Amino acid sequence: MLNSVERTPLIVRLTAPFAWRSERRIAMKLLGFGATEEGSAHDMMRAAELTEDPRLKRLFFRHSVDEARHAAAFRAAAAKLGGGSTRAGEALRARREDLYERLGLVRFLAFVHHSESQAKRQFESLAAHFADTPELAHLFEHIVKDEHQHATYSGQLLVELEEAGRGQEVTRARRWVRWWLRWGAWRRAGRDLGERFIRLFLATLWLVALPFFVVPARLSRDAAPGWHALPAPDDTPARIRRPF
Ligand SMILES: [Fe+2]
Ligand SMILES: [Fe+2]
Repeated sequence: MLNSVERTPLIVRLTAPFAWRSERRIAMKLLGFGATEEGSAHDMMRAAELTEDPRLKRLFFRHSVDEARHAAAFRAAAAKLGGGSTRAGEALRARREDLYERLGLVRFLAFVHHSESQAKRQFESLAAHFADTPELAHLFEHIVKDEHQHATYSGQLLVELEEAGRGQEVTRARRWVRWWLRWGAWRRAGRDLGERFIRLFLATLWLVALPFFVVPARLSRDAAPGWHALPAPDDTPARIRRPF
């Protein structure tokens, strides 16, 4: 069975030709990345605000600035391809999830380390996929360097916690994050599938039900379509004097 280090490049290699097949799709994917990066920037800034440790404050703040820069770079690349002008593009908005408050320090660090390592692998694979499109290849290569640094410092902080005697807590947090992310992916996939199914169901219902109304309406129509002369108004003095 493949581990996550082998799985991400394989998934990107198999899905990229479909998922990134046109300029419009590329722009939408870049906008999606931009929204995710901006959400991370907000979360890291919130973590920097909340932590009491000056070293963590500095690291989280720097991380937040990097993610904000990534968001701007992805959006600029999408704009060059015409992204953001569609309603779907405008709907992609960043969300702050307050993960530091919700997860606590150890799980938060485990989450950051896992996500950054995954982002690094994904962007490396996309840089290779776009080897013939230098602008996009350079964009991903440039961002990979920052993601590598984010994965390294968060991994180092987890090692320090292990060395400080919190090894079991770290192991549990790493395991919990893997399951939590899988659960999130499963829920998102279920929601997407549900939305597609509802759209298909309503379209089918509309196509099947419509003839039952249209055909009788057509058959029962006794007047010919088009403009019809109205009967002459009753404007006799007797009718005008009558209020109703
Ligand atoms: Fe990033
Ligand atoms: Fe990052």
